[in-house]
Amino acid sequence: MLKAVILIGGPQKGTRFRPLSLDTPKPLFPLAGRPLIAHHIEACAQLRDLREILIIGYYPQTQMEGFVGDMQALYSSSNINIRYLQEFTALGTAGGMYHFRDQIRAGNPRAFFVLNGDVCADFPLQELRDFHENRPSSALVTIMSTEATRQQSLHYGCLVFDKNNGAVSHYVEKPSSYVSTFINCGVYVCSMDIFTVLAQIFHSRGQEYGCQGFSNGNGNGNGNGREQGHIKWEQEVLTPLAGTDKLFAMPVPNWWSQLKTAGSAIYANRHYLGLYKKTHPERLANVGTKHGEGDGSLICTVLPDVYVHPSATVHHSAVLGPNVAIGPGVTIGPGVRIRESIVLEQAQIQDHTLVLHSIVGRGSTIGAWARVEGTPSDPDPNKPFAKMENPPLFNNEGKLNPSITILGCFVQVPAEKILLNSIVLPHKELSRSFKNEIIL
Ligand code: GTP
Repeated sequence: MLKAVILIGGPQKGTRFRPLSLDTPKPLFPLAGRPLIAHHIEACAQLRDLREILIIGYYPQTQMEGFVGDMQALYSSSNINIRYLQEFTALGTAGGMYHFRDQIRAGNPRAFFVLNGDVCADFPLQELRDFHENRPSSALVTIMSTEATRQQSLHYGCLVFDKNNGAVSHYVEKPSSYVSTFINCGVYVCSMDIFTVLAQIFHSRGQEYGCQGFSNGNGNGNGNGREQGHIKWEQEVLTPLAGTDKLFAMPVPNWWSQLKTAGSAIYANRHYLGLYKKTHPERLANVGTKHGEGDGSLICTVLPDVYVHPSATVHHSAVLGPNVAIGPGVTIGPGVRIRESIVLEQAQIQDHTLVLHSIVGRGSTIGAWARVEGTPSDPDPNKPFAKMENPPLFNNEGKLNPSITILGCFVQVPAEKILLNSIVLPHKELSRSFKNEIIL
């Protein structure tokens, strides 16, 4: 029996994802019509002997319970239990795993996966599991690895490993100088003995803190700003395990990216839509006819790949795609053109409006003959292994870096206005055109 843990952080995380994370927790942001971590769950559910998925984070239970209920209902027939376990405070990337160790160990799983909730990928979980099982019995963790450019590798966990057997000899998280172009994808298989390592870290921390056992759980820790239970997986677990024959890496060529900035959502949306062609072609809107999961009422021009929620209303003269996801209850008027964009639930795009490289927030309205356009931030196609850049919002001169255009929820863009490379915070009613601005 296998289990999986998905780490989702909490409200203080995902700040670079604003304003989209202001009304939806980042792990629930829809990509290709499904919440970000629904893609993780779907990948886990493909594994025949996976029985439980534990989502660990410090979002309030109330923000996660609707999603978890939906997922439970969806996978109950596959005999997979899905639960949300809330940390009392941020416990870091390994503290939650240790805190909830009894829940992970319950039922005696053979191994468990750990997936960072903010990565997007064509997850090769079965291969990862097989790879791990074929390592020596000393193996505690196998890391899914991919290659990045030399310069980009510095923003990730870098690994040096034996190309023959995958044994990791060196692991450095976000090194200050070049270590390796092989990076950590934030997807792992762990043997159950990893809890012995976590316990050692926890107890050595106890001595450091002058106390033993759990902290009082009130989030105050010992006064140095960190809970005793706070453990950093990358620095405190992976780095010391390197070179001990307990840490392995499996390099994969699969698509992988992180969801850090809102701009990276368009890129991930495109790839998840592309994956549907292989895994769920019925979810994609059919060229020129109707969309997949719906009632067949959508008849407009579709340039693949496009996802349209069955409850959306799209005028037959609209042209959608490529790489567009339209959410529930959205209304799209005559002559509208949308490309490389995500339109979230209940948004209205009125007649003859153009939306390119943009995210239109929940309940927002764009008037007729408007133009909403952003600049894509895709990986450099001329650089092998290039990943998405996640540039900061502002450059060194204090100017907004060109980015996709984002409308927060319930924004109103009047007819005939132009919005270029701009970010609009929720509930704004614009009265004019904007270019390269953040509208607060
Ligand atoms: P940044 O570039 O600083 O964002 O670092 P990173 O890409 O290495 O990400 P980070 O280590 O912050 O987080 C990795 C994953 O763990 C993400 O999915 C986070 O949501 C999650 N995570 C981070 N901190 C915590 C935590 O305290 N508790 C839980 N449960 N998850 C966490």
